[in-house]
Amino acid sequence: MKVRVYGAQPDELRLYDEAEKQGGLTFDFAKAPLNESNVDEVQDCEAIIVMTNCQVNEKVVEMLAKKGVKYIATRSAGSDHVDYAAVKKYGMHCCNVPFYAPEAISEHTILMALRVLRHEKKCSAKLAAGDYTLEGLKGRQLGQLTAGVLGTGRIGRPTMTLLNGFGTRVLGWDPYPNEPAAKLCTYVERDQLLRESDIIFLHCPLTPDSYHVIGKETLSMMRDGAVLINTARGGLVDHAAVLEALKSGKLSGFGFDVYEDEAAFVRKKKTLDEIGDPVFEALLACEDAIYSPHVAFYTDGAIYSMIEVTLDNLRQYQATGECRNEIKEEAGPV
Ligand code: NAI
Repeated sequence: MKVRVYGAQPDELRLYDEAEKQGGLTFDFAKAPLNESNVDEVQDCEAIIVMTNCQVNEKVVEMLAKKGVKYIATRSAGSDHVDYAAVKKYGMHCCNVPFYAPEAISEHTILMALRVLRHEKKCSAKLAAGDYTLEGLKGRQLGQLTAGVLGTGRIGRPTMTLLNGFGTRVLGWDPYPNEPAAKLCTYVERDQLLRESDIIFLHCPLTPDSYHVIGKETLSMMRDGAVLINTARGGLVDHAAVLEALKSGKLSGFGFDVYEDEAAFVRKKKTLDEIGDPVFEALLACEDAIYSPHVAFYTDGAIYSMIEVTLDNLRQYQATGECRNEIKEEAGPV
């Protein structure tokens, strides 16, 4: 099976080399993320491997189907960049990597929380300006706060384990509560979680139901001076509303590893002028907001695991036409 790979980094190529040596799969590496303007470059491939910065909308899926592509394997857990309805419409299959080192994302989540709570950005800016005073740097201790975790799945749970280690009071909300999480948090109604939490962590998938789950209305329910950390998907948050909340003091901090329109710049080199998004620019400039460019997953162990599972997914399709990690539910772009 010939596979076109999007987003492979130089240090990952040896994993593909090893897979080729095992037989059955051959690879063709693309230089840029998949989108409407370069989908034409796919030649004689039965499968493609994509990442979250690829545009797999209906137009792209239609073109892929015409070119004989049968399988779309996303090398990520989240799959909202793949128009699942279109995949189904054109009789194709898509699969993801439902879990790979969820602890990597949780550790980054806690890192962001601590950076916000201890005003790390402000502290660095003061040092760069030769200001060694304490002014503006009084932090808060994670262990003395109430945390609310929206989404108590594979990533939410290790985040709650880490929070428990700090001694934080942990509240959880999930449309499908689960037993292992119930041992790590107190499940409450979503509105109670919003009202009682000092710091809110988003660990739920982006679906039509969860789109802009944090917006004007939900922000108004939160405690004054609450902190928001989002390492799940940008579309969960109305960033213009969050910016307003930071300006008014409703939110005292915001840590985000994901941004709604990140496909335009993540994994690329771009100036703020080229990005042309005043809300994003204002958030980057805000001393209480910290951003990382979708790197929460990015550890050596997680990458190895993502590629191995993706290749195994394709081997399953090749052998049986089916895959245990087939995406079966609508999770198209919203
Ligand atoms: P999971 O499927 O194990 O858990 C998600 C949980 O959220 C489930 O328990 C589900 O019932 C719950 N949920 C569904 N809709 C919800 C809603 N509207 N509100 C609250 N909870 C809801 O998924 P996992 O592995 O924990 O991943 C969570 C998300 O993290 C992914 O969907 C992905 O968007 C994001 N992610 C981010 C990465 C990064 O590098 N920043 C890397 C990997 C995943």
